[in-house]
Amino acid sequence: MANTKVSYLGLELKNPVIVGSSGLTDQLGSIMNLEKAGAGAVVLKSLFEEEIIIEKESKLSQMNTSGFIYPETIDFYEHNDGPKEKSAEYLELIRNLKKKVSIPVIASINCITASQWTFFPRELEMAGADALELNLFILPSDLNRTAEDNEKIYFEIIDQVKKQISIPLSVKISYYFSNLATMIGKLSESGVSGIVLFNRFYSPDFDIDTFDITSGNVLSSPGDLALSLRWIAIMSDRVKCDLAASTGVHNGQALIKQLLAGASAVQVVTAIYKYGPEYITKMLDELNTWMNKHKFKSMDQFVGKMSQSASSNPASYERVQFMKYFRGFEYKGS
Ligand SMILES: Cc1cc2nc3c(=O)[nH]c(=O)nc-3n(C[C@H](O)[C@H](O)[C@H](O)COP(=O)(O)O)c2cc1C
Repeated sequence: MANTKVSYLGLELKNPVIVGSSGLTDQLGSIMNLEKAGAGAVVLKSLFEEEIIIEKESKLSQMNTSGFIYPETIDFYEHNDGPKEKSAEYLELIRNLKKKVSIPVIASINCITASQWTFFPRELEMAGADALELNLFILPSDLNRTAEDNEKIYFEIIDQVKKQISIPLSVKISYYFSNLATMIGKLSESGVSGIVLFNRFYSPDFDIDTFDITSGNVLSSPGDLALSLRWIAIMSDRVKCDLAASTGVHNGQALIKQLLAGASAVQVVTAIYKYGPEYITKMLDELNTWMNKHKFKSMDQFVGKMSQSASSNPASYERVQFMKYFRGFEYKGS
């Protein structure tokens, strides 16, 4: 057996497969199954800042309709409190997981502001979370906000959270930045231990008969790998922290590609929704077979081997137009 140990966020993982934040990672039993199937670590389902605020507001309005509300109560919710039940459940899950599983447990918070909820990361640390991943996304759709306005928020959030915790912090981002390479570079110097490229978001779709707005594809497809593969390869030697790959990793080959590009670890979600936790074992078997075939005994012998900086043809990572390539391309069927 080849040695598949990796270091991610300063944590030792027995292998690079992390089950990404999703409905697969919000229950003790399912996480124990993921560990049994071989997962190297898990990122818990995100606790959403939006959810927190809605829950808090609904509690306040329930108290209001009951006729009386102490001003102190408002103050308490305004300044101290978060989502009592959700957050308490989340902490309980972490405490239970720490008794039942030995793989690293990475907590996750989805956030868009640097206020109200930022007391919570310390509680996550105290409950035993091994690291925290911030699921950060501000859709740049506001015509009155500049790119700088939006980007500033990322650093404010990281600053606030860093002050609260001593466990490693990572950020999971999208590719919606006006200068993606610069932003990834700056984030890597902000004190985070890792960046996850990229998150996949809920996207609206239309029903053209009912004129309803429906949800687009929730799950990824194998072709979605290309975007994160390119950016992991371009950035992996240019950042001051770890990079984890996410989106479109549907099999062992895709896992190997992301490692060759320079990912320290690889997050998988859709493939496990589709094929179950045992699929992790299959992907790891593929990794092992491939490492044996190429006589790699440990991960450091090949991780980053195909990053842009290690490549004899770095231009191919930045080629974006088809121009002369594929001019005579014909579709021959699949
Ligand atoms: C049903 C579902 C729920 C998800 N929930 C979260 C979440 O709470 N937080 C988060 O950061 N990402 C969430 N994601 C995104 C995944 O963690 C992952 O980034 C995305 O699915 C791309 O990986 P994949 O191609 O392996 O599916 C969710 C994805 C799915 C399909």
